[in-house]
Amino acid sequence: MQIVTTIEELRSIVKWWRGEGHSVGLVPTMGYLHEGHKSLIEKAVSENGRVVVSDFVNPTQFGANEDLSTYPRDIDRDAALCEAAGADVIFHPTPEEMYAPDSCTFVDMDRLTKGLCGKTRPTHFCGVCTVVSKLFNIVTPDRAYFGQKDAQQLAVIRRMVRDLNFNIVIVGCPIVREQDGLAMSSRNTYLSEKERKAALVLHKSLTVGEELLHAGEKDAEKVKAAILKQIRTEPLARVDYVELVDAENLEPVKKIDGPILAALAVYIGKTRLIDNFSYAPET
Ligand code: PAJ
Repeated sequence: MQIVTTIEELRSIVKWWRGEGHSVGLVPTMGYLHEGHKSLIEKAVSENGRVVVSDFVNPTQFGANEDLSTYPRDIDRDAALCEAAGADVIFHPTPEEMYAPDSCTFVDMDRLTKGLCGKTRPTHFCGVCTVVSKLFNIVTPDRAYFGQKDAQQLAVIRRMVRDLNFNIVIVGCPIVREQDGLAMSSRNTYLSEKERKAALVLHKSLTVGEELLHAGEKDAEKVKAAILKQIRTEPLARVDYVELVDAENLEPVKKIDGPILAALAVYIGKTRLIDNFSYAPET
């Protein structure tokens, strides 16, 4: 496995692979990889002749008061994980390699990005869409892999690919959790021991909501109220949002009569964590 830092070198490698008749899979990441990322890489390896993992903490998707400078980084550990998962190349560019100093072109979306995480992170998805478009143009993969952990991001990327006619299949992959239910995240490293325990309330509260839905509850407000009640049992938790939205257009729903996404963001101390589940009533 190779670590590649320049766009030019990556393009020539992909060209070589194409000449040999290989299909190409891309797994975009911001590094500090864990089992959740690994599951995406393994899926990509199983479906493509060659796999690129991008490992780039993308500055344009962080707000002014967010954790860009403290976001955890460990390229040596990431390289070992990618190699073990069977990836062929890690693309690890500098911010200067990815963005010209006078770069002024962005990819934005005027729906899907306003609610949920977009409320507290208004510029986030523009940064995500821009960097993912650039990666798509650099790697020109056949397939790209994204986790359901970031459900809004996955929906946004699917919409962008449709609207901008990228000839790429987007593959969504299930959430990988710790044994006790906490969704794996690079940001979990910010949690103290006490906060790590408190963070279990995210999955616990979603489970309460999921059980209500499976018992036949159709009123979104009631499900939301039950989730909120459970979160409020945890003194270290502060709710950013809890929403039940249409699975495709991410608009809030009142009555559950089609596929939905139940998503939340909760601060545990200073760390903002997200989690979600999808649900579709039986027809
Ligand atoms: P990052 O947070 O590193 O996540 C990279 C990919 O791994 C995303 O598709 C995310 O949904 C997936 N992932 C993270 N934790 C997961 C888990 N517990 N189970 C399954 N999949 C998981 O998302 C980003 O980076 C960036 O926004 C990016 C798309 C790379 C653009 O910069």
